[in-house]
Amino acid sequence: MPEVVIAAPWPLRAGTDMNNSKCPPVKKFPTEGERYQRLRALQEKFTLEFSHNPQFYVRAPGRVNLIGEHVDYCGYAVFPMAVEQDILIALATNDMGKLNVHNIDKDYPDFFCNVNNFEIHREQPAWFNYVLCGVRGIMDEGGIEGPLVGMDMLVGGNIPPSSGLSSSSALVCAAALAVAHAHGISLTKEKLAEICAHCETHIGTQGGGMDQAISFLATEDTAKVIEFNPLRSTSVTLPPGATFVVGNSLAPMNKAANSSFNCRVMECRLATQIMAQKAGLAWKMYQKLGDLQKVLGKSLPQMMTLVTDTFEARPYGKDEICELLRTTPEELDQITLSENTRHIQEFKLHDRALHVFSEAHRVWQFKRVCDEQNDTALEELGRLMLDSHRSTQLLYECSHPKLDTLVELSQGVSLGARLTGAGWGGCMVALVEEKSTEAYKKMLQDRYYSQEPAAQGRDMNSILFSSRPGSGACIFVE
Ligand code: GLA
Repeated sequence: MPEVVIAAPWPLRAGTDMNNSKCPPVKKFPTEGERYQRLRALQEKFTLEFSHNPQFYVRAPGRVNLIGEHVDYCGYAVFPMAVEQDILIALATNDMGKLNVHNIDKDYPDFFCNVNNFEIHREQPAWFNYVLCGVRGIMDEGGIEGPLVGMDMLVGGNIPPSSGLSSSSALVCAAALAVAHAHGISLTKEKLAEICAHCETHIGTQGGGMDQAISFLATEDTAKVIEFNPLRSTSVTLPPGATFVVGNSLAPMNKAANSSFNCRVMECRLATQIMAQKAGLAWKMYQKLGDLQKVLGKSLPQMMTLVTDTFEARPYGKDEICELLRTTPEELDQITLSENTRHIQEFKLHDRALHVFSEAHRVWQFKRVCDEQNDTALEELGRLMLDSHRSTQLLYECSHPKLDTLVELSQGVSLGARLTGAGWGGCMVALVEEKSTEAYKKMLQDRYYSQEPAAQGRDMNSILFSSRPGSGACIFVE
């Protein structure tokens, strides 16, 4: 494709979205505080590297999921909150038709390409591919007429990478919002979240949309129950007297770099299809456990019983699955399996489906406890979190020995703890009584982090921190 240069839609209408709460707000550049310092540093570096000033900045936060793990891609609600840590991007358009993507941290190499002609690499994705996903999303689904204008971007972030706090999705969200704003396009938060959830699949994971949804829909001081299809969110006030503490196990997990994540998605899909077949439905029409539940008209506990009636608690071979579905391995590859799971020969259907239905049920129990706010609310929430951890550890097998250690250490000192995010490493989240927070952190410092080689010499505030629900993505203009 030849390079096409188009004019930027200037002047940008700062404030046009300010009164439209449906779209990410355009805010004034802060005048003080840590965010001010980080934006200022971004602006100075941008001017040095690109020899002109940024025209605006965007911010998209990471998240911690309180409960509801590995259920979003099955169609079930999740319960996350945004964290303060975020991705910031400074942007100015250029008239060269180039996309220049730099990072303030020089461990992440610079990248450039023709803004209207680039590829996204699925295998071992380099950091800038997440930016490209955001660009591609707006290009394909943002409603821009004609080619994209060239853009210079400088990225800065303080969400620890590969920690389960959704740094990569926040990068996709920030990039998409930046590209949309650079082209004078206002999209609702829901639309942006849907575009970003969809375009992140260019990188090869089959996530369910939680991370992108909370990055756009978060509001300060409330966690959200997020439901899908159609995407909607409900604010939930957490009971007073306790705080969430996030602890990084320091075992890194990059979900795009291995097939475990997608394998779980496929196991849920296969369980759906076999249960559909058994119920006399056309199995090829079903992909999500949630869709099957709707058609069968059963409650979540009834679906759990159906799982134990249908499957044995053992791995099923691919050939056996084909027999049950009366299909061939070739057809199964085509209809059901993703490219990076076609080589897998055994799938655990009973345990995975049982996790999903029980975890989906816990999300609603968690919300009910928050809504009722009775005297035992905090203990009940803690117990649900621990049950959730056990289910991810034993049934979904997506924990990590270091996460399990953190959760065990937290017993008795916190109200409950669990892994958060995809798992296989990354962070845990604990519910801790406010008055015990410092003692809890000190206990983890003494009994875990002082013995953890990866923690030595690191800023402990970025590894172990209390978090309150933060706000969603926005645009800053000077
Ligand atoms: C990742 C995905 C999410 C969700 C979680 C697990 O973060 O991006 O969509 O599936 O894992 O709950």
